[in-house]
Amino acid sequence: MSPLATTDLTPAFLRGLPKAELHLHIEGSLEPELMFELAQRNKVTLPFATVEAVRAAYAFSNLQDFLDIYYQGAQVLLTEQDFHDLALAYFRRLHADGGVYAEIFFDPQTHTDRGVSFATVIEGLRAGMATAEREFNIRSKLILCFLRHLSEAAALETLEAAKPWVDRLAGVGLDSSEQGFPPSKFTQAFAEAGRLGLKRVAHAGEEGPPAYVVEALDLLHVDRIDHGNRALEDEALTARLVRSEMTLTVCPLSNLKLCGVPNLAVHPLKRMLELGLKATVNSDDPAYFGGYLLENYQAVVDALGLTRAEVLTLARNSFTGAFLTPQEKATYLEAIEAYSIANPCLTPL
Ligand code: HPA
Ligand code: ZN
Repeated sequence: MSPLATTDLTPAFLRGLPKAELHLHIEGSLEPELMFELAQRNKVTLPFATVEAVRAAYAFSNLQDFLDIYYQGAQVLLTEQDFHDLALAYFRRLHADGGVYAEIFFDPQTHTDRGVSFATVIEGLRAGMATAEREFNIRSKLILCFLRHLSEAAALETLEAAKPWVDRLAGVGLDSSEQGFPPSKFTQAFAEAGRLGLKRVAHAGEEGPPAYVVEALDLLHVDRIDHGNRALEDEALTARLVRSEMTLTVCPLSNLKLCGVPNLAVHPLKRMLELGLKATVNSDDPAYFGGYLLENYQAVVDALGLTRAEVLTLARNSFTGAFLTPQEKATYLEAIEAYSIANPCLTPL
């Protein structure tokens, strides 16, 4: 890598580049400060004394370590106002990072299993999304995730509860503990989501084997793969993902924090781009993994020496892989081209 190759990829350039975020768990954007504020507001007792103690607990060696704390943190979310405040705090950060569009995951079962109604969760989030559109001109859509450590019957019940809001959902997803909970477990729930006209995505190949990515494609008929890192272990699968132009929502700092990679210099993102995979950069659970969208871009630029062309490809992929109309995508892609022309590379390569 030439050190000059990335010279113009300054934080300012990366911030100004129009970007979409396609892999963000809204519950994973709960910063410790807001966690304490909501705990106080709702008289919920936290197992931590201070914000610093919460942050100190964010040392994970795998996905399950993280999920245990993530589900615990979500317990402070009780009212529509809480969900509004959570979403708005995320969009404020996204705006600061130059994000202009987001498709955000939410985990209704994490809340309905504690007695918080589906209506409270979705109306609160939608209120936050509406405020963000007004204040920041950020557009967004919701993706309802099923928790894969729970049963398919529970997923189908969740989908039933979502029916009054189905036209306000972009799609369904599959998250939580991956190993031992293959996509095949949710074939019926995803078929029903398809019948309802919803898009489908699934976490696959984050910790789980390439076979889980194949199942997500063949049995869940997904429109995107969330993560997909381990797909690279299977050459035929990789070729299939390239051929079908399947978008992968990659989360570099998440992979680092959950020990999917020992350091970012060996992260597969650059290889994905070189292979022609439609990779995107996303933050996953930014309050827990040490960075929002821009920090993820900056981290991979620094660690992998991404070129300006590669960074532009990542930004383009974030819109071409989004659940938008061709016209909407074209408008965002034109904005990227205009930005690139207005900010030419000044460093001779
Ligand atoms: N992986 C799987 N499930 C999740 C995650 C994640 O990073 N965050 C929230 N649910
Ligand atoms: Zn995720």
